[in-house]
Amino acid sequence: MASGETPCCPARPYVGIDGVTLYHPHNMDDSGEVPQTESAIDRLERLRSESAGHRVVSIPLLKGSGHLVVDHLLVQEIFKSQDFVRPPFFRKAFGDGLLLSDGERWAHSRKVIQPELSPTAVRSMQDVIDDCIKELQTDWSRASEEDRSVPLVEDIASCVLRITVRVLFGVDLGARDPRALSVVRLTAASNELAGLGVFDPRAMVGGRLINALQKERTDVESLAAELIASRRDAPDAGACPVDLLDHLLDPAFIEAPVADGGCPVGHKGLIEEMVLLLLASVETTTASTSNTLQLLADHPACTERLRADLPDGTWVQACFRESLRLRPPVWFNGRVALERFELSSGDTIESGDHVYVCPYLIHRDPLLWEEPDRFLPERFIDGVVREGASFMPFGLGRHYCVGSGLATAISTSLVSSILANHDVSIEVSSDHEPGGGFLLGPSLGSRARITPTSRPG
Ligand code: HEM
Repeated sequence: MASGETPCCPARPYVGIDGVTLYHPHNMDDSGEVPQTESAIDRLERLRSESAGHRVVSIPLLKGSGHLVVDHLLVQEIFKSQDFVRPPFFRKAFGDGLLLSDGERWAHSRKVIQPELSPTAVRSMQDVIDDCIKELQTDWSRASEEDRSVPLVEDIASCVLRITVRVLFGVDLGARDPRALSVVRLTAASNELAGLGVFDPRAMVGGRLINALQKERTDVESLAAELIASRRDAPDAGACPVDLLDHLLDPAFIEAPVADGGCPVGHKGLIEEMVLLLLASVETTTASTSNTLQLLADHPACTERLRADLPDGTWVQACFRESLRLRPPVWFNGRVALERFELSSGDTIESGDHVYVCPYLIHRDPLLWEEPDRFLPERFIDGVVREGASFMPFGLGRHYCVGSGLATAISTSLVSSILANHDVSIEVSSDHEPGGGFLLGPSLGSRARITPTSRPG
């Protein structure tokens, strides 16, 4: 596949991704098409078999072409190049902020946000993380004693939202704030809409999707506005900045003329930044935690080793990374070419063409990974260090995830605390939220049964 001899696949119907069927079951209902029932994994497996043997698969779009780049070295060429930017569609639909921007606006946000999520900053957040997890643990222990199942995704999402808001914006929302679900639903709806824009700009955006976006967006925006108001009303408002919210409220951030047309970021830009940070954090980290729990539930020997390894934590880190390999929460990423670009394979990307990257395919490439479909956390302990495009759950290049350290701390802490004394068995719900879109994780309705382990840690 990576030999360089395989020619670019000639234009043909997109290898199973025909723009809508990949991940828009709900939207298709609205537009009168046959609803599709494939799970996210099934769709990805179909994509995998249909793209096997190709380094690049190209398809004609309404305007220009789209190219699914399968080979990891070619992916690296694209993500390291300045000639590719994020598709403007995302920004138009969801506003501006670090997660979706490029250029001056992006650099402005990255400069302020990245230091607040540095390894040192994340280490200082561990007490808050542990504190929030303790309440979840107590709830789940009670459910276990009463032989009740728990709403897995809802509970984890609430805990992740609570941690994110506390560490970034300094406010404790308490356990089970219902707005965690708004964040998760907004991410799911945003993903659906983004997918429509990326794959098929002609696709109809159904009423259900618009309604979901508007409702959930209003909820999440009002949460951001509430956080800003409470900080501005605080008696020590304007004193020395202590967290990210203080830095975002600083005139140096808000008044900088880096928004579209040289406008200042302003209050609207601030709200968009905060909403996008919540979107970036909550559903991804919920998915990575749930996926790791699910894979460990299927591999009891790995769970035993995790308990034996506590509190060292090396094994849980390896399990987490292996789960990100097998089930990368962000399984899809896209860019647009600013200039004509020739890949080292000889394939040409014209200016304005879209490029798609699927970490799920790269993470299961047999040329890169031995026994790619097996859950083998030891490959992250015994094996060579995996960097670059062969392992890219957190992206690659200048847009590399700023929250990777926080996500790792939250997920590994949650998994270790829950599994220390309990087994988790997950009942994945067949509803499609939020397992569709660009995120891979158990759907919102999934539940878990928690039972005391026979060998407490
Ligand atoms: C397991 C959890 C997570 C995964 C899998 C994940 C994945 C990613 C990926 C793949 C990108 C690159 C996007 C691109 O190339 O366009 C990214 C960027 C980003 N992530 Fe994460 N993320 C996670 C958690 C978080 C958390 C906890 C936060 C915030 C607290 C966060 C904030 C961001 C931001 C702001 C960006 C944009 C960075 C930039 O463009 O410079 N992420 N993330």
